[in-house]
Amino acid sequence: MSPVLLAPSLLSADWSRLAEAVAIAEKGADWIHLDVMDGQFVPNLTFGPVIARAVRQLTKLPIDAHLMIHDPVAFVPAFREAGVDRMTVHVEARGVCGPGWAAPIRSRGEGGASKSDTPPPAEPHTIEVAALRRTLAAVRASGAGVGLALRPDTRIAEIEAVLGELDYVLPMSVYPGFSGQAFRPEALREIRAAVVWREHHGAHYLVQADGGVAADTITAVAAAGAEVFVAGHGVYRQSDPLAALQDLRRRAESARRSDGTAA
Ligand code: DX5
Ligand code: ZN
Repeated sequence: MSPVLLAPSLLSADWSRLAEAVAIAEKGADWIHLDVMDGQFVPNLTFGPVIARAVRQLTKLPIDAHLMIHDPVAFVPAFREAGVDRMTVHVEARGVCGPGWAAPIRSRGEGGASKSDTPPPAEPHTIEVAALRRTLAAVRASGAGVGLALRPDTRIAEIEAVLGELDYVLPMSVYPGFSGQAFRPEALREIRAAVVWREHHGAHYLVQADGGVAADTITAVAAAGAEVFVAGHGVYRQSDPLAALQDLRRRAESARRSDGTAA
């Protein structure tokens, strides 16, 4: 049976009690998810390697840095030295595979994009495969696991050239930038596409889900085939975060059991 790995996002935790938040993850989770934002690629600013190092000192769990930043390559060595184990970069960011491209919808604080947001017609995305390979190679050379994240406006089919070289694929279910946004169900289609591609090509990456993953959505996400479940509000904004983690795990495992194809 494919694994169920829970990765709580510290972005939603009470940062005045960071050690407590990490201790909860140690008891009930598999990874720690760190949301790194630069105020440019996404309209929010969080933290860098200094904070990653502080988290490293609090836990032995693997740390996955979700780099929502332009030019992540410039920061790969610093995050690695801080003790980050995995790094996930965004294909849409400038410096990852060329000039990058703008989001049709920007996240806008907790609650996210308004329902009235109508995306403009999609333009073809320009992916310079050689540049993308160089970016992934820079992460690989640091010794970290290599992940590639897609916003909801980017399709798995667009990154087929490099899928076989990845350790992690993350088709996001919100526009990145803030915790607490509503889950976008179109991500399920991309999660399935990533699982199908892996089966057909004998690839080995794990499929991550991130954005609005909580008690009411995790069953569908697990049934679609994701293995790594990032959750912010679904853990740290619940009255008992450890119980919430355990409940998410039960729901994901039970979705797996009732889905013969994932076994
Ligand atoms: C959003 C981040 C997510 C976020 C998840 O840009 O990448 O990791 O913290 O939080 P929830 O689960 O509340 O959507
Ligand atoms: Zn994230």
